[in-house]
Amino acid sequence: MRKQIENRDDLKLLVTTFYDKIRADEEIGFFFNETITDWDEHLEKLTDFWETNLFAVKKYKGNPILAHNAVDKRFDQRITPNEFGIWLNLWFATLDELFEGENVEILKRRARKMGTFLYMNIFESRG
Ligand code: HEM
Repeated sequence: MRKQIENRDDLKLLVTTFYDKIRADEEIGFFFNETITDWDEHLEKLTDFWETNLFAVKKYKGNPILAHNAVDKRFDQRITPNEFGIWLNLWFATLDELFEGENVEILKRRARKMGTFLYMNIFESRG
């Protein structure tokens, strides 16, 4: 039986497994591999992000909108809904592979919402 997502360690496993898939992805891996230099730091930051999101602790300090607008700019506006679709598919696949239960559904829903929001902001930032 797969386990429930209950704590930071679970989220760290989720984030680590997810980014292994992201980095190996032929279509979107390079955005990450060419941007992120310190992977330990990035995985900690993303674990903070999801821990803050799911368990209402105050750990993540950052601005995902600015971060993604900058990535889109650096890669000559090459982020499209297709890139978000691939990202979300890998997120869902990782969640289903490792876990089950209510928090799986919450994390799917929050990522989908955030993807829409990030993309709308990218689009707007292009002017
Ligand atoms: C669909 C939902 C997505 C979510 C929830 C998400 C979430 C995040 C978060 C929380 C960060 C950390 C921001 C910070 O504080 O620095 C981040 C960074 C990053 N994201 Fe996303 N992301 C999504 C989609 C994407 C897509 C589609 C791409 C590219 C195709 C992407 C590329 C990146 C890169 C390259 C960074 C590192 C930025 C840096 O450190 O300079 N993300 N993402």
